[in-house]
Amino acid sequence: MEKIVAAFPKGRLFEETIEIFYNAGILPEKIQPQSRKLIIETEEFKFLLVRAKDVPTYVEYGVADIGVAGDDVLLESEAEVYRPIDLKIGACSIVVAGLPESKKLYNSNPTSIRVSTKYPKIAKKFFSKKGIETQIIELYGSIELAPLLGLSDFIVDIVETGRTLRENGLVVIDHIRPSSAKLIVNRASYKTKSMKLSSVFEKIERYLNKN
Ligand code: PRP
Repeated sequence: MEKIVAAFPKGRLFEETIEIFYNAGILPEKIQPQSRKLIIETEEFKFLLVRAKDVPTYVEYGVADIGVAGDDVLLESEAEVYRPIDLKIGACSIVVAGLPESKKLYNSNPTSIRVSTKYPKIAKKFFSKKGIETQIIELYGSIELAPLLGLSDFIVDIVETGRTLRENGLVVIDHIRPSSAKLIVNRASYKTKSMKLSSVFEKIERYLNKN
């Protein structure tokens, strides 16, 4: 029997993803976040534990039939996948942030700014729509350091609780868009494994509707 392969994101979405798949009756046991095993198999499924940013790639190339990814990661990846279900987890906002004094510069209609981010495509698109030229500095984490060290006036990042910004004396300067996690599906699998996938979607939707 051909299994459904699911890519689960390690990191901030991991526990809530496991919670959904377990409560929906798809995952027989909860996988622990500290698990070092990267592939977990059951009779009907194969679960891959991958880096959150890589989930759209696994699904787009069909190595996984389904996956869980935040809008932030999906927009940045530009992967061509279906997104049939909003899982309503990992709610956060994609924002422009900086030191409070940078608000003035932002509101003065600058023609060009420097932005540090792990979301270069999202940032470029957002500012180019506003007619602002951007010099993007791509970082992979702890983005909040950039304005503190004078690397850039602005950052584009996700804000969930707001704690990281607060503890580093930064403020939200502009909102780009909200983000939540989506169930994503490979476009070929959507057709070739439609029966099995429909049952997965139903189970997940039934659980989400109960909550
Ligand atoms: C994300 C993001 C912020 C922080 C926001 O980083 O880049 O730094 O979380 O969350 P908060 O509003 O609840 O404080 P993540 O924890 O994914 O780690 P990273 O900095 O290594 O990317």
